[in-house]
Amino acid sequence: MKYDSLLARSFSKHEQKKLGIGAFVSCFILAATFCFLFKPEIRHFRVVNVKVSLRGSPKILAITEEVTKPKKPYFEIEQEKQICNVLHPRADLCETKGDIRIHGNSSTIFFVSIDDEKNNNSWNIRPYARKGDDRAMDSVTNLIVKKVHISQQIPICTRNYTVPAVVFSTKGYAGNHFHDFSDVLIPLFQTSRRLNGEVQFLITNSMPWWIKKFKAVLQRLSKYEAIDIDKEKDVLCFPSMTIGLKANKEFSINTSESSYNMLDFTRFLKSTYSLKRKSAVRLKKNADDDDERRKNKPRLLIISRSRTRRFTNIEEIVALAKSLGFKVGVEETRENLAQVAKKVNSFDVLMGVHGAGLTNMVFLPENASVIQIVGLGMEWVSKEDFEIPAMDMNLKYLGYKISVNESSLIQQYPLEHHVLKDPPGNMISPKGWASYRKVYLDQQDVKIDVNRFRGTLLKALELLRS
Ligand SMILES: *[C@@H]1O[C@H](CO)[C@@H](O)[C@H](O)[C@H]1NC(C)=O
Ligand SMILES: *[C@@H]1O[C@H](CO)[C@@H](O)[C@H](O)[C@H]1NC(C)=O
Ligand SMILES: *[C@@H]1O[C@H](CO)[C@@H](O)[C@H](O)[C@H]1NC(C)=O
Ligand SMILES: *[C@@H]1O[C@H](CO)[C@@H](O)[C@H](O)[C@H]1NC(C)=O
Ligand SMILES: *[C@@H]1O[C@H](CO)[C@@H](O)[C@H](O)[C@H]1NC(C)=O
Ligand SMILES: *[C@@H]1O[C@H](CO)[C@@H](O)[C@H](O)[C@H]1NC(C)=O
Repeated sequence: MKYDSLLARSFSKHEQKKLGIGAFVSCFILAATFCFLFKPEIRHFRVVNVKVSLRGSPKILAITEEVTKPKKPYFEIEQEKQICNVLHPRADLCETKGDIRIHGNSSTIFFVSIDDEKNNNSWNIRPYARKGDDRAMDSVTNLIVKKVHISQQIPICTRNYTVPAVVFSTKGYAGNHFHDFSDVLIPLFQTSRRLNGEVQFLITNSMPWWIKKFKAVLQRLSKYEAIDIDKEKDVLCFPSMTIGLKANKEFSINTSESSYNMLDFTRFLKSTYSLKRKSAVRLKKNADDDDERRKNKPRLLIISRSRTRRFTNIEEIVALAKSLGFKVGVEETRENLAQVAKKVNSFDVLMGVHGAGLTNMVFLPENASVIQIVGLGMEWVSKEDFEIPAMDMNLKYLGYKISVNESSLIQQYPLEHHVLKDPPGNMISPKGWASYRKVYLDQQDVKIDVNRFRGTLLKALELLRS
């Protein structure tokens, strides 16, 4: 796919160097637009690759000419504990408290210690929550977190802050709607919500269009304008700092590792975007009254992708849904996020082929339903990305697994071909991802057998009655 390679290219370091700044910026804007319009595939590498990196005798003097040997730390150091956890499968995370100084331009963070001098610990942290996925992580700034003893030479603070800081990256797969939520926003919510806005965000690999897209969410989480830390030549000092984001489940929150759950998150979004509908329409068990039925029509939003994983008989699906009593909307949800949020919130059922557009389920009222059309070979990704998260959000979930006959792949492969006979049922390995994507995600359209699908829509109605 053309846009895919464009996207890939725009993320490559090599190319970044070759392009002029202007070209680079417009390339990003272009990539962003493509992401938003065409929603490239969701990435699925769940391979855990734990890497601990300790560096001896750090050279810290290169950073600034102004160096000092203070007698006392700037902020009181409470207790010494393990500051970085690099063992979690999803994301590395450092939580520091005391005297923390960050020099953005050199991607270095100093944690001033009164510990014994023996511990010259240093960690390399990429603050993006998709550990083990090299393609995502390679684009993320590597931050060096150094524990330095108070007697060592430490750069002087040029700006002092009194609020905690949270450092995160907006690179990786940010720009893909699903990954924006799964890898950045939900983790950011988990990390910073409890601070009630009294937190300074420090963003590395900052992309202005991304900040703009999620401005409302960022402003709700932090009272202060986010700082593009890569551009900072000053040394910024904080009484505490979290480097990286807490992340523990795909497009969701693992409640055994968090004090929040997905309902907290979706309620937070609803209040952020002033969404009115808290709950889906509730249909009367026996609505014989025509008037009542018209007034209370359940609303179905069909996400219709235009490049890949298309519905090739959308009119038939719409006609079926209307005949069953739904008011139907067909969208590719490409407006700005506030508009998308309001639109989606006005529906009771959201339906689409597995893809990033289903991410908008976060805006549905509670007890609404999600119908995921599961194409050939999409079972595992469908379950991980949307089925489990939908249930975590208190939504009702219906999966419609298509038959071979409903897949456009039958036009490209003979019936006995392994692509049709033996589609992957489990997790896709990083090595196999590109070819998997090409066949099952980029080349597969769906022609719904409306007779077969009827039962699923009837079930969706039933769920609105219970
Ligand atoms: C910032 O970093 C760049 C590249 O690492 C370097 O060339 C430049 O001198 C640095 N500027 C300051 C003020 O440290
Ligand atoms: C810790 O770092 C300081 C300054 O770089 C150095 O003088 C000291 O020897 C180091 N200690 C250890 C145990 O590496
Ligand atoms: C930051 O705070 C420290 C300790 O109070 C002080 O020595 C330093 O001058 C302050 N720096 C600035 C730029 O205000
Ligand atoms: C949730 O967290 C618990 C405790 O860390 C862990 O055992 C479990 O595997 C996690 N579940 C998921 C789905 O990640
Ligand atoms: C959702 O449905 C459950 C069970 O049907 C009900 O107890 C709950 O009140 C509903 N929630 C809302 C917000 O309507
Ligand atoms: C697919 O279509 C063929 C020909 O129309 C038919 O013979 C076959 O039974 C269908 N298979 C399924 C699973 O519906």
